[in-house]
Amino acid sequence: MSHRSCLTIILAAGEGTRMKSALPKVLHPIAGLPMIGHVVRAALGAGESDIAVVVGRAAERVREAVEPFAPAAGIFVQSERLGTAHAVLAAREAIARGYDDVLVVFGDTPLVRSDVLADLRGRLFEGAGVVVAGFRAPDPTGYGRLIEKDGNLAAIREHRDCSPEELKIDFCNGGLMAVAGAEALSLLEAVGNANAKSEYYLTDIVEIAADRGMKVVATEAGHEDVLGVNNRVELAEAEAIWQRRKRRELMLSGVSMTAPDTVHLSFDTEIGEETIVEPNVVFGPGAKVEPGAKIRAFSHIEGAHVSPGAEIGPFARLRPGADIGAKAKVGNFCEVKNAVVDEGAKINHLTYVGDAHVGAKANLGAGTITCNYDGFLKHHTEIGAGVFVGSNSSLVAPVAIGENAYIASGSVITDDVPADALAFGRARQVTKPDYGRRLREKHAEAAAKRKAEKGK
Ligand code: UD1
Ligand code: CA
Repeated sequence: MSHRSCLTIILAAGEGTRMKSALPKVLHPIAGLPMIGHVVRAALGAGESDIAVVVGRAAERVREAVEPFAPAAGIFVQSERLGTAHAVLAAREAIARGYDDVLVVFGDTPLVRSDVLADLRGRLFEGAGVVVAGFRAPDPTGYGRLIEKDGNLAAIREHRDCSPEELKIDFCNGGLMAVAGAEALSLLEAVGNANAKSEYYLTDIVEIAADRGMKVVATEAGHEDVLGVNNRVELAEAEAIWQRRKRRELMLSGVSMTAPDTVHLSFDTEIGEETIVEPNVVFGPGAKVEPGAKIRAFSHIEGAHVSPGAEIGPFARLRPGADIGAKAKVGNFCEVKNAVVDEGAKINHLTYVGDAHVGAKANLGAGTITCNYDGFLKHHTEIGAGVFVGSNSSLVAPVAIGENAYIASGSVITDDVPADALAFGRARQVTKPDYGRRLREKHAEAAAKRKAEKGK
């Protein structure tokens, strides 16, 4: 099939009013990626394809969402919303370039899988002129009904235009369609708007093609694949389905999850086999975990890389640019941002490491803070291999600590520390014998005096 050229047209000109949002509907995210991004990825996963997106407004923002996956995508504006066939024709210029296959998908159907699209194209390859993805709707209200005759598709009748007999059909139009590229424009141009909504229905090309003697067939997709998102409740439902699918895929690939329903993944989360993910972990975009790591409960990981055998959490936060080495540990209430942490380093308690490099086997005590920001600029902290930082120390960047150096607890380190040195950055302890008792007596006396005055 790969030698066949393909154009995928994504319809996204709907107003999406039920989202009650300033953000165009198709830009609302699922698993951290705008819905339209999911559709583009599914289209590209089904085989090489050019992409055309039909939008009503916010063309630039839609372009930005599509570009990372399809840099050459064409964005076409449908300025008047006259129906799905009219919308497809907004991309006339792209269709006219001439493709073997033309796929039409909806931008608000984010759960569509590549298999379903590849299946549609496959039927074109076998000689069909139009292929429609149908599904069995538990409640078909509102959907176009697929009218079949002798194993072929004779027509799609929109709900409002159905006879009482046709309304009983539960095999519905999922909205995905494949059309032989050579016929696409002539079929679309033959569509009229004599129907209940006075719209140009894409679905009418089924009857037109059948009348012209072309083979028109339906495939059957799962309900989830064609699930449309129209409001924020459906957005959350689609998110839940997406999350369930992705968790399942990861578990089947060798990732253990002790409470899978509580693990939240992003569209691009990568987790290697033999990794254990404990309950309540959130993976934001750009997280990559290598095999054999352990991600403990309540951790939040985004834009970060975790090497084999590393242990993160519980309650750890890895922010963008965190690169955690093999067998390193980042423990409870620690935050790491834009920092490389080498093999076997330990950052175990209440620590902030930002804009830094932590050498192999270094040990940062509880409450170590890299003071990376002076209110204007971010600065780098260099911590050599084998360094020991005593608890509750502030490392004021830019600053470098040489290999195997020691930092005394409670230090504020503002100057570089050479390798193997011991640095104190705090006042020496002063101990005054008996002062404690004297202080206590003084306070007790003052309190008694105050009480006596009040009693007067
Ligand atoms: C459409 C199908 C119906 C199918 C259902 C599946 C038609 C005529 N009907 O109905 O058979 O069962 O989807 O969900 O195709 N759009 C535009 N420009 C327009 C009109 C629509 O870009 O002028 C886009 C919308 O943004 C949306 C998609 O096309 O992504 C579908 O349009 P919508 O009005 O939701 O069609 P339905 O009535 O749901
Ligand atoms: Ca719809």
